[in-house]
Amino acid sequence: MKNKKLLVTGSTGYIGGTFSYEALKSGYEVIGIDNFSNSKKATKQILDNFINFTFYEIDISKNLKKVNEIISKTKPDVIIHFAGLKSVSESEKNQNLYWQNNILSTLNILESIKNNNISLIFSSSATVYGDKNESPIPEEAKFSTNSAYGSTKLAQELLISDYSRAYDISCISLRYFNPVGTHADKLIIEDIMSSPNNLMPRILRVAKKIDEKISIYGNRYPTKDGTGERDYIHISDLVNGHFAALKKINGMDNHNFFNLGTGKKTSVLELIRTFENVNDIKIKFDYKSEREGDVAICYADPSLAKKELDWTATKTINEMCVDAWKGVKDGD
Ligand code: NAD
Ligand code: UD1
Repeated sequence: MKNKKLLVTGSTGYIGGTFSYEALKSGYEVIGIDNFSNSKKATKQILDNFINFTFYEIDISKNLKKVNEIISKTKPDVIIHFAGLKSVSESEKNQNLYWQNNILSTLNILESIKNNNISLIFSSSATVYGDKNESPIPEEAKFSTNSAYGSTKLAQELLISDYSRAYDISCISLRYFNPVGTHADKLIIEDIMSSPNNLMPRILRVAKKIDEKISIYGNRYPTKDGTGERDYIHISDLVNGHFAALKKINGMDNHNFFNLGTGKKTSVLELIRTFENVNDIKIKFDYKSEREGDVAICYADPSLAKKELDWTATKTINEMCVDAWKGVKDGD
């Protein structure tokens, strides 16, 4: 069967870039869109090596006319919508930017596909589960959000639900837990230079000697060692979740939601210790008070993705730590 033609927004970002690279390697035709607000032209150059790649530099949130033109010209079967701003702390400082960028991007995508028989896969986040749920978290858990970023993710899901119902569009929202690591070809890595808030990029900054130490936020949580527990998932497993969704999306009605997580929890201290052991690097840390909005424990119930998408994460924490370091150790 012929591969589907894919339009990938955020195609030069960490996850969208890794996905595009894999899709191109597998023979999919990929039409990429990005405005480089959080990515580099170097990633586009990697993707440009594939003849089945075309690219448009536009801000999707501000340019419905151009999005319409691209879609009528290229006629994709599915849009994989990764584009969005994703920093929790920045979203609290600049709410307007996050609401404008994230909501209008998704609205413009939906407007342009509503009568065209194009399906949509959307990058959502476990952040929509907020801090009121017990883990493992199933898809039907209650929503709540603790940041403007989280609220825009939830609002985008609701927007997609409304359009999918009104215009009969097949849509899947994939709720990512904590993506880490680098693809085996080491080409597209998470940016660790632009003040990351997340744990793995901060560990990498200490390993690279950019920072002297990492602060662990809280050591009195009701967890095995007192530090917060999360569901870290290797980028390659996460990307595979999108291919699994692509295979199944045509048989699905309206809007479907799937957790992409391993179903396993790892504490902050365990992640640091594992990173030290597998890479033989000392990571200095101290303890600070708990970060506002953090939960003690958050991990997925991934059973629905297994049942409906025939997908499971396979990579271990050891592999995630090895591959995360491989990706950045030789770079500038
Ligand atoms: P990223 O910042 O590396 O990639 C996002 C890309 O979208 C960037 O290249 C950016 O330039 C582009 N972009 C943003 N707004 C745009 C616009 N208006 N028009 C065109 N391009 C635009 O982020 P990522 O880690 O690859 O995340 C991809 C998606 O996954 C995001 O929607 C994010 O919210 C979601 N997500 C990420 C994580 C994570 O930990 N990385 C977790 C849960 C969900
Ligand atoms: C955070 C966001 C969440 C977002 C997700 C992926 C918050 C409150 N939540 O989730 O909305 O979807 O990133 O982008 O920001 N930690 C430290 N020291 C650090 C950094 C983190 O101890 O320097 C701890 C945290 O307290 C947490 C764990 O590491 O226990 C993981 O943190 P992080 O990587 O930021 O992910 P989340 O908190 O799960």
